[in-house]
Amino acid sequence: MPILEVQNINKSFGATKVLDDISFSLERGKALAIIGSSGSGKTTLLRCLNFLETPNAGRILVNGETLFDAADRSSKSDAEIRKRRLHFGMVFQSFNLFPQYTALENVMLASLLLAKERPDYKQNKHAIHEEIEGHAIELLSQMSLEGRMNHYPHQLSGGQQQRVAIARALALHPDILCFDEPTSALDPELTGEVLKVIRSLADQHTTMIIVTHEMAFARDVADYVLFMDGGVIVEEGTPTELFENTQNERTKAFLSRFSQNS
Ligand SMILES: Nc1ncnc2c1ncn2[C@@H]1O[C@H](COP(=O)(O)OP(=O)(O)O)[C@@H](O)[C@H]1O
Ligand SMILES: [Mg+2]
Repeated sequence: MPILEVQNINKSFGATKVLDDISFSLERGKALAIIGSSGSGKTTLLRCLNFLETPNAGRILVNGETLFDAADRSSKSDAEIRKRRLHFGMVFQSFNLFPQYTALENVMLASLLLAKERPDYKQNKHAIHEEIEGHAIELLSQMSLEGRMNHYPHQLSGGQQQRVAIARALALHPDILCFDEPTSALDPELTGEVLKVIRSLADQHTTMIIVTHEMAFARDVADYVLFMDGGVIVEEGTPTELFENTQNERTKAFLSRFSQNS
């Protein structure tokens, strides 16, 4: 069973249709890359998955469980929506760290807030805190940030901040880790260090969706690639199919524009 099934998602803003009948699925442990021009709907699609936007039609299933069904009109409580969001870890272009907290505190924050809702929190507060801290330290070490745990965001480079943001997304044990142009705000040198981290996550079979303009990276790391244009999936396939045996004229035009620009 696929870990994620996206079925016939439509999303409009007013009269503008931004996503038109988007369907795809993702297997556990695989990396899916989404490429496409600016304005093609990539961010909106990720926001729909994370319930930051509500699709006008379609269904989203994780592990076979329907998390969203546009036909189901019953309203969901905030707690339910928050719970659904936990399936998806999000890493955005802008790292969005809390400036008043250290790297370690940024990674621990959401887990601590969630832990406070546990019935046993008061009783086991100390042990729970230690466990969350231990996990956060482990994740930051995995991101090669051992020496930076107690630094504040302004003391870190953009690449280091983005690696903290990746650790933060992983802290909640998401089923699927989503990246929205994770290196677009970084210069080439820092881009490399973030891509290296994402590559190592792929090597560890982390299930991922990566929206990226780094074509060489997508080709290298993704198991499957979707090309979006104008709110539709124009072409999809393995990296070899999509990049080396491109079928669609719109994909060809996009890829040749891209190689000219970069
Ligand atoms: N909140 C919104 N309200 C109105 N239009 C939006 C909103 N968010 C995105 N759009 C429009 O949806 C289209 C797709 O945007 P987006 O998903 O950000 O594309 P991409 O990430 O591929 O660049 C764009 O035309 C954008 O202007
Ligand atoms: Mg975008």
